Amino acid sequence: MDSAKIALVQDSFKKVVPIAGVAADIFYDRVFELAPSVRPMFPDDLRDQKKKLMQMLGTAVTNLHQVDRIAAAIQEMGRRHVGYGVEPAHYDIVGQALLDTLAKGLGDDFTPEVRQAWAETYALIASTMKDAAAAV
Ligand code: HEM
Repeated sequence: MDSAKIALVQDSFKKVVPIAGVAADIFYDRVFELAPSVRPMFPDDLRDQKKKLMQMLGTAVTNLHQVDRIAAAIQEMGRRHVGYGVEPAHYDIVGQALLDTLAKGLGDDFTPEVRQAWAETYALIASTMKDAAAAV
């Protein structure tokens, strides 16, 4: 990803951080709305899960200019997700939920350019996870 796109993602994520709790609520509601069948894969209490997701997203966003430094951690995460019962098709649902969440959370700041930059960011993380999972 070029540095202009990375800046779009990092700057817009800064606006999400103060509303991280609400964003995480919107995100999981949207995932389960799009795919009710995945709800049983998660624990009843999602509080820990929400924190971990926002932390991981933060780490990925911070390190977008040096993805090689987090590639191994993302691959590990992809392999762990196999154990949670996650299948490749689920990544499209989660990606859609993420973009919908950002659209809601950022409002007018979610320009087509910001959307595109986030779509590429998610695709990068998801493909790294899926490739590692496929090699298990
Ligand atoms: C870029 C995509 C994703 C990211 C960054 C992400 C992030 C995380 C993180 C940080 C955890 C905490 C545990 C761990 O690190 O292993 C986790 C757990 C989990 N994720 Fe994901 N995830 C992604 C995609 C998905 C997808 C596509 C699904 C499918 C529905 C999914 C379902 C789960 C489940 C079921 C757990 C375990 C819950 C539990 O038993 O506590 N994740 N995820």
